[in-house]
Amino acid sequence: MYVCHCSVVTDRDILEAIANGARCIADVARVTGAGRTCGNCVESMRDLVCKHCPVRAERTTERPAERELGVAGAAR
Ligand code: FES
Repeated sequence: MYVCHCSVVTDRDILEAIANGARCIADVARVTGAGRTCGNCVESMRDLVCKHCPVRAERTTERPAERELGVAGAAR
């Protein structure tokens, strides 16, 4: 299933990123490119990270890092 239509990123891509060490949506955005255009996928990315991240790091809600990395929709 496509999560980010702008960057053509699927839920499998995001789960793979998490399996390879991504621990927050900024990590997932950096690895996959998702979330950098319209931002409509950011909440779905957040849900996947929160549901599947083996370590629920507090970084998942660290909005300044999201902004710093240019994740679209971070200010919502
Ligand atoms: S749908 Fe992911 S940035 Fe637009």
